[in-house]
Amino acid sequence: MSVQQPTPNDVALMAGRAGYVLKGNDRGAFTVASPTLYPHMWSWDAGFVALGIATVSVPRALTELRTLLSGQWATGMLPHILFHSPSDYFPDPDRWRTQVAAARPAGVLTSGITQPPIHVIALSRILHDARRRGGPDRELAEAFVVETFPRWLAWHRYLATARDPYAHGLVEIHHGWESGMDDSPRWDEPYSHVHPGAEMPPFVRRDLAHVSDPSQRPSDAEYARYLWLLEQKVRARYDDAAYRATGDFVVGDVLVSALLAAASDLLADIGSELGVVEGVEESRAIARRFRTGVLRSVDPATDLARDLDLRTGRYLDVDSAAGFAPLLCGGDDALIRRQRDLLLGPRWCGHSRLRWPVVPSVSPASPHFRERTYWRGPQWPVLNWLMAWALNRSGEQEAANSLRLAGLAQLVDCDFAEYYEPLTGEQLGSRDQSWTAAIALDFLAARRPGRRRPVRLLTSELPRVTPAGRPPTQEFPGPAVPR
Ligand code: SER
Repeated sequence: MSVQQPTPNDVALMAGRAGYVLKGNDRGAFTVASPTLYPHMWSWDAGFVALGIATVSVPRALTELRTLLSGQWATGMLPHILFHSPSDYFPDPDRWRTQVAAARPAGVLTSGITQPPIHVIALSRILHDARRRGGPDRELAEAFVVETFPRWLAWHRYLATARDPYAHGLVEIHHGWESGMDDSPRWDEPYSHVHPGAEMPPFVRRDLAHVSDPSQRPSDAEYARYLWLLEQKVRARYDDAAYRATGDFVVGDVLVSALLAAASDLLADIGSELGVVEGVEESRAIARRFRTGVLRSVDPATDLARDLDLRTGRYLDVDSAAGFAPLLCGGDDALIRRQRDLLLGPRWCGHSRLRWPVVPSVSPASPHFRERTYWRGPQWPVLNWLMAWALNRSGEQEAANSLRLAGLAQLVDCDFAEYYEPLTGEQLGSRDQSWTAAIALDFLAARRPGRRRPVRLLTSELPRVTPAGRPPTQEFPGPAVPR
């Protein structure tokens, strides 16, 4: 299916509306992931949000990352949520009870688990934008990289040590939420061994109040397992070794590992460009180890990478978009070309039933495919962005551009949904999702392969698509977070 370039009118409307969504979700020093369903800062959301905001304001994009770093634990871990203010989001800080952990940060309430390490990929993208702009943006971004290099390295080191103590070259996750793909069929087998105990405190789900159709969210049985793993983390006082000895869910995640490898390469690149010496070699070594782990996991029969269940020692033979992890970390050119063909071919993006040829979380040809349910089939714009980014980086500009154009076509309604029904294109989950708006801005900034230009918000076009109320603005406010 060929997809047309967006028209100038589409570009103006989408950029304006995306800026409006991000502005509405802006809380000064950070951006809520979405206005109602996710009213706090989420870790991997923040990475995507920052790179999208950078197309409009480099200082505000850096503030996003600085705020995220304010939640870093003494172990180096970046927690998956930084809580903002009281809300109806559950599980809330009272449920996470991170005060049992010695390593928690002072002065900020967080969850006690992680999310995929997308952040340095975002940082390198922001640096690229800042250098193209030059002047104070460039100075600010370069100084930020030098200043925060040790913090990002500590984050990656945490994943490479506390979460890979036996050097498998795969990052161990302790909860499906840590993968970012909460209810993916990738986790069905390991979750089948998670049995909530009688001691689990009762709970009431709040997420269902914010979506129109419960089938778009994980089931109650899945939620009970999520909450049970949280209890196991609390009992282990968020100590990774103690959890490993007692917890029910311990899996080597190929997508997280590939992102760690790619981000570690980039950290070494941008650090050494700016004269950082200490930690550059360590960063390259982390990249090599996790790239090797990802490539080792590839099933020769399918050419897809597989997660490793560390409780059973078995690879998990469930194909999902995470199987394209080697595209993200590289390391085997012939495999990358085969993965490109597979991704764009009739089982994945080129599947005849898809409304838009963008990456589905699970192939419609898979027995696990469920078109409306969260990570079991819907298309997530951030996943499509990652694959486009990876293709571009490995020199596959044409393939990358096809995903970018299809991704833009999918978002042209300007609702910026959390995820999309792949067969009809219907918006699912939350609306005004920050990372979706951010992806739109980034895709719009890359109008031609390899050539980015700043997004200009043409506010005169906006009244036709923005809700009544606050008008969009052209700039984000400056940093409001204490340094
Ligand atoms: N995605 C999870 C949720 O739905 C938590 O990160 O709340």
